[in-house]
Amino acid sequence: MTRVLVAYATRFGSTREIASAIVHELNASDGIDAQSAEASGSLDPDQFDAFVIGSPLYGGKWISSAGMFAAIMSERMNGKPVALFSIGTTGVMKPEAGDAEHKAFIESLSEVAPSLNVVEDAAFNGYFERANLPWYLRIIDRFAPTPQGDHRDWQAIQTWTKSLVPKLSGE
Ligand SMILES: Cc1cc2nc3c(=O)[nH]c(=O)nc-3n(C[C@H](O)[C@H](O)[C@H](O)COP(=O)(O)O)c2cc1C
Repeated sequence: MTRVLVAYATRFGSTREIASAIVHELNASDGIDAQSAEASGSLDPDQFDAFVIGSPLYGGKWISSAGMFAAIMSERMNGKPVALFSIGTTGVMKPEAGDAEHKAFIESLSEVAPSLNVVEDAAFNGYFERANLPWYLRIIDRFAPTPQGDHRDWQAIQTWTKSLVPKLSGE
């Protein structure tokens, strides 16, 4: 059995639901035993054989608990396979810009945590609620409005998760 930890951060809950969907899909595969948990220093990487780590982007960066988890635990992950995902809404109107934000963050993470064995990474659209923006971002958003609502593509998340199975199991 490959024990997989899906560690995530969230502010408003949409990434938690994505982490749950990833766990559900992984557990539908033979030989995988997956569970999710909010990223924190109390998780023990020795208990797992592979990791999926994800966070929403806020101002182009992951929530620090997820970034810190990946960076600080990277040595203890000991070269075990790691898949990374970002959630955001930049990509709803401009997919290339969404991907670029994600790639830039992953690159900076790999610089501070060079021992992370990243076998796969992806960006997915999240859930946009204008009311969650601070007032100054609401003003900016008025000029290039992101459509409100749930932009999560469950099919794309499921397909990506299926593609992870051989990479996480080291096949
Ligand atoms: C204040 C604020 C800043 C955001 N910054 C970004 C960003 O830089 N890039 C992006 O793609 N999405 C951005 N988003 C969209 C969130 O990443 C998206 O709503 C995500 O689904 C939130 O995840 P959560 O519900 O797990 O916290 C921002 C949202 C808010 C409210």
